[in-house]
Order: sequence, then C-alpha cells, then structure tokens
Amino acid sequence: MTNKTDRIIIFDTTLRDGEQCPGATLNIDEKLVIAKQLARLGVDVIEAGFAFASPGDFEAVKKIAQIVGTENGPIVCSLARAIKADIEAAAEALKPAVNARIHTFISTSDIHLEYQLRKSRAEVLAIAEEMVAYAKSFMTDIEFSPMDAARTDPEFLYQVLERAIAAGATTVNIPDTVGYTTPSEFGAMIKGIIENVPNIDQAIISVHGHNDLGLAVANFLEAVKNGARQLECTINGIGERAGNASLEELVMALHVRRQYFNPYLGRPEDSQESLTNIDTRQIYKTSRLVSNLTGMLVQPNKAIVGANAFAHESGIHQDGVLKNKLTYEIMDAQLIGLTDNQIVLGKHSGRNAFRTRLKELGFELSDTELNKAFVRFKEVADKKKDISDWDLEAIVNDEIQQAPDLFRVELVQVSCGSNARPTATVTLRTPEGEELTDAAIGTGPVDAVYKAINRVVNVPNQLIEFSVQSVTGGIDALGEVTIRLRYESKVFSGHAANTDIIVASAQAYVNALNRLYASLQTQQKPEEVTAQKV
Ligand code: KIV
Ligand code: ZN
Repeated sequence: MTNKTDRIIIFDTTLRDGEQCPGATLNIDEKLVIAKQLARLGVDVIEAGFAFASPGDFEAVKKIAQIVGTENGPIVCSLARAIKADIEAAAEALKPAVNARIHTFISTSDIHLEYQLRKSRAEVLAIAEEMVAYAKSFMTDIEFSPMDAARTDPEFLYQVLERAIAAGATTVNIPDTVGYTTPSEFGAMIKGIIENVPNIDQAIISVHGHNDLGLAVANFLEAVKNGARQLECTINGIGERAGNASLEELVMALHVRRQYFNPYLGRPEDSQESLTNIDTRQIYKTSRLVSNLTGMLVQPNKAIVGANAFAHESGIHQDGVLKNKLTYEIMDAQLIGLTDNQIVLGKHSGRNAFRTRLKELGFELSDTELNKAFVRFKEVADKKKDISDWDLEAIVNDEIQQAPDLFRVELVQVSCGSNARPTATVTLRTPEGEELTDAAIGTGPVDAVYKAINRVVNVPNQLIEFSVQSVTGGIDALGEVTIRLRYESKVFSGHAANTDIIVASAQAYVNALNRLYASLQTQQKPEEVTAQKV
C-alpha cells in the first residue's frame, strides 16, 4: 500500500464519534438505516461503532457488518482501545463483513500520558506495537490512531507511527482530538510525518479532527495538500463537543475546487474526475436522515446542507442569479440532491405510484415499512392536497424512525386562544395496553399537552430543546417537530411530522419519552452509558 493514492478516502464516523454527542444516541435499527444510506452515498469506510463499549454497540457493529459489509459495500470498521478485550470484541463483531477494519488507538500526548494513562512514553510505544500486531492477527486492514496527536511531541509521534506501521497498521490516523491545531500547523505536521517516518510509504495517512475552533475542515484540506489521503468525518459535522469535520463540506470543497486540489493528488489541473467516491446527489438526503434520526438540527446557515445555503435574500443577489446563476452561486443545488420541489403525488395516488416514487428518491423499504408509510401517506394526503418529495421524505423518515413503541399517542385535544387558558387532554396507550387519559393547563397548547403527557408517563425530565420546522411552504405544510429532553445526565431526542403541529409535538415528545423509558428499563444508568464512550 502507498501513501500516494490518487483519490481521497472518505471514512465516515457518524455512527461512532458522531453518535457521541449528547442526545444523538441511536438504536440499532436507526444505525442500520443510516449505514445503508452511507453506503448509497458512497463512503469508503463506515466506522459503525465501538464494539466493546456496550452490548448494543456490539450488536450494531455486527448487524451493519452483516447487512452493509457486502463484497461491493464499504469497509466496516470498529473502534477499539489498544486493549486485548476491545480488539477481540471488534474482531468478533466485524466477522460478517467482507471488508473489515479494526481501528485501535492509544493516547500519545504528554498531557494524556501523565494525567489519563499514567504511563511512560516507552510503555505507550510497546503497547501500540503489541496491540497493532494483536489486531493484525485477526485481519489485514488495521488502522492505528495516536490520540491527541496534534499535541504530541513530533519526535515521539514519528516513533509511535513507525512502530505501528512495522507491526502491521495499514492506515495511520492523525487525530486533532481537542480541535486545537490550525491549518498551517496541521499541514506541517503531515509533512513532518512523511519526511520523518521511514516506513510511511507502507500506510495511508488519515486525519481526524474536532471543530472546537471551527477549523476542522480547513485543517483537513491543508492535510490533503501535504499528503493525507483519508478524511474522517461525520454527516452534518455532528460529534463530541463542537463536532467533527463535516463530510459534506469536505466533499464539496474537494469537488467545487478540484482544479485547485488536483495537482496535490498528482492529477492534471483540469481533470474533471471526482476526487472522492461520494455520490454528491445523496448528500442532502443523508443530511436530513441523520438530522431526523439523531434529533440534531442543522443550523440554517450551515454550509452545503443548511436551509439557507442556496437561498438568495438580497435584491442584488436575486437579480444576478436570475440573469445567470454563476453570478452568486459556486455550485448547483442539484449537485447535492436538492431538486426543485416537484409535486408528484396526491390523494388519489395508489400504492404503486407511491412505491415507485420512493424508489426514485432512493428509499428501499421493506414491505412492512412500505405499508406503514403508505397508511401515513394517505392520512397526510387527506389533509394536504399536494404531496411533494420533501413531504414523502418526511413521512418515510418518520415511519422508519425506530423509537421504541412503548407509549402511543391515541388522542390529543387542545383548547386555546387569545382569551382562553390553554388546556389539553391526551390519551396514551401504555406499554401494557391500557388507555390512560389526563388533562392539564399550560402556558400554551404545547406546554399543556406536555404537562398532560407527563401526568400519564410520570418520568421527571427537563425539556431542553423544542423546534418546529415546516417541510414545505404553504398553509397545509407538514410540520416537523424535533425535541430534546434531559433525564439526569443523559439527553434523549424525539422527532415527528404531521400537518397538525400540536399532534406532531405530542408524538415527538412521546418518542423521546419512549427512548428514555426504554433506557430505564434496560437498567443501564445514564452515567454508565456516557462513561463507556471514548
Ligand atoms: O478524537 C479522537 O481522537 C478520536 C480517536 C478515537 C480517533 O475520536
Ligand atoms: Zn474524535
């Protein structure tokens, strides 16, 4: 293997590092839905989780390995500390994948060695070497990360990398774990590695970085110019603290500015060949899916996938764009899969038309999922005359969102107005099948509904985020509600879409409560779940 691959490998860690942000916790089925979409998007490697962290993580890695890790599918990867038990769990969970990778790591910065690991440099060197060799005894594709590399003494970093490669690492990943470095420093670090690690030509150089200073993407692009060939990133940039480098920003920067980057990859400047394997038309859909399932909203001004990313508000800009798009647009919205909102289906559309359009939109549903989605489609079509692609996407995402079906909303009724006290009545079906009704007064209709639900479910929690977005324009638009609530130290999210935003609010809240309730039932204390993450 050589460092000089002539394209960029996209390593997606949405399901591992991305899932580590508070409230983004996904269940196994949701992870599988995202993994399938990542495969459609064309990522080269999916970091499916951290198999040793919990039985749930193990099962998720295994299921993704089984279903997405096919011959022509992406490499499926599991994280593992440089500890035998972690590596064994990763190897076991990855067994079903045709192309599998163990990603093992150990900290190398002095600050981590002194305060966290309490080990000497010599000890860390020996562990890295031994554990890479151990991982290699299970499979050929091994990635090694010296955690906090960006704050590691370069001479020590070179030694660790050399020993890891000699022990069998085929990819060496350079993490800026705390999001501290700057583009020129990071570029120089990659250059230093190429110049000072004698066997570096036997491994791919990868980069991994967090966005604490908002520099992750810029750091990666500088790393590419200096020889990095794998980028570790997440959809919508979700991840620990300020998040990880965002996949869509990296991919589109490399695409839109390929003439600039081509020479760094040894290509003619005017080469039109894509620098990554990503099908950019799947970007928007993947972004929406991840946002809906994790409950992590995308800020409107987010590059590439934000609601305003292609909106022109100023008169001068609008005038220019109408005359020629190139005046103010550096890329076509269609490139990321944002098509014009074609009206495709309505109340009289049948199951076949529904199935066909979903297929065209890239959704592959099982028969059960299709049936559920079709029932929802008919309900929505009864209230909303024209069903656009965005509506279909919202309906399907809502139906395949796998919040555990414990409590179910049977009835929501509110009374409110300018001179009324907002009052709500709700009926929920309990996990035992009993129908319970209660009522409450609130500061507004949603507050009243949530208070009434709380009286039934009776799990104390704090609502920390509530957002309503309309899927399309128009008075009959579907409203999407995303909420996040906190229970002790853990955050749970819920999402729902309905033409009635009060009903959507109730359903989103009950989805989040179901997740909380399920986590209480498994008796896994929230602190334990968090502590197991890296
Ligand atoms: O940020 C980090 O250092 C990581 C490693 C495990 C690669 O996520
Ligand atoms: Zn990380």
